[in-house]
Amino acid sequence: MKAVAPKKYTTEDLETWRVILSEHRKKRDSQVCDIFLKGLEILDINEDEIPDLEEINKVLMRRTGFEGVLVEGLEEGNSFYHMLEERQFPVGNFIRSREDLSYTPAPDIVHDLYGHLPFYTDKAYSDFSYEFGKAASRYADRPELLRQFERFFWFTVEFGLVKTTQGVRIFGAGIASSTGECDYALSDAPTVYPFDIDHIRKQEFRIDEMQKILFCLENPEQLYRSLPELCARVEQDARTSA
Ligand SMILES: [Fe+2]
Repeated sequence: MKAVAPKKYTTEDLETWRVILSEHRKKRDSQVCDIFLKGLEILDINEDEIPDLEEINKVLMRRTGFEGVLVEGLEEGNSFYHMLEERQFPVGNFIRSREDLSYTPAPDIVHDLYGHLPFYTDKAYSDFSYEFGKAASRYADRPELLRQFERFFWFTVEFGLVKTTQGVRIFGAGIASSTGECDYALSDAPTVYPFDIDHIRKQEFRIDEMQKILFCLENPEQLYRSLPELCARVEQDARTSA
């Protein structure tokens, strides 16, 4: 991981931020789960300005010990999991172009800061993330086993759904940070399976299109509680393939 200095955003960048967040504000209360909505309020993230990460971090550190760290581009597997283990989350130091408003294949400040960081105001979520990073890091030199953690992260933290008393809501930051993907994920288009560790750890995904397969949690705690079982199954594979 190579931390970088904050980018000076242009007027056009600020306009991109404003357009995406204003658009999302219209729907997010009825689309995304409470952890995210509460986190936005706590961090005071709004369309008026791209937040100062230092100010965000003061609040995060006080609440859960996590902090966002500005990075150039995508943090790859091992480096990413190690950051979680250090209670850090990488934040892309750029914003998508105007042509790509509702979807970005590379994680930018909208995806990372707006999509992910609000979740890190929540203690149980943050502790899970830290434990996940610690567990995945143990398999740093076993790519085929690490892949199972990657899929698990993808179908929950990035692209998970969750049942709530108001109906199914978005749990994954990858969906939450994209207006287009929010509409798609809650439509009849994707196939939605119940959360299942064995299914998820074997389920391939593509990063270059809307997610046609999704998994729905009964509640966030189901995810937090599932980590020991995921680790046990990966460890079983480790023993049989050693
Ligand atoms: Fe992400």
